[in-house]
Amino acid sequence: MPKVLLLNGPNLNLLGNREPEIYGSTTLEEIEGKVESILREHKIDCEIFQSNSEGELIDWIQKNRGADFMLLNPGALAHTSIGLRDAVIGIEIPFIEIHLSNVFKREEFRHNSYFSDVAIGALTGLGEKGYQLAAEFAIDYIEQKLNNNQGS
Ligand code: DQA
Repeated sequence: MPKVLLLNGPNLNLLGNREPEIYGSTTLEEIEGKVESILREHKIDCEIFQSNSEGELIDWIQKNRGADFMLLNPGALAHTSIGLRDAVIGIEIPFIEIHLSNVFKREEFRHNSYFSDVAIGALTGLGEKGYQLAAEFAIDYIEQKLNNNQGS
């Protein structure tokens, strides 16, 4: 069964309570459940992880080498972490970068991301919907890959 990784970085465990005017009132658990059910309808497995620690995120990514796609919200590490960037590049899994808030409308230090130039694409400012759209993109991507493999 194809596998998609859903990975969230620091402080995203606080979703629902954390600055709801910026991040909305949906919890991370609700987002994860929704993504998992969208993928399951298409017979795609979903591995889910969140951590506040850069090292744990890197270890988890390395452990999951071989998955077909990744949905990644690096949180603040988007703007700071070359280590996490290198891990993502190292495992060679195509991925979409997600931010609930529109980082370009916010402080200047959020305008740079160490992930956008190596991601397939980025969704920023669409709230929880960004995760659902990214999951739908992952489904198309994987189905296309499977079709291409059957054709060759
Ligand atoms: C975020 C944006 C980041 O700048 C911030 O540090 C986060 C959340 C978002 O989803 O909008 O923790 O990644």
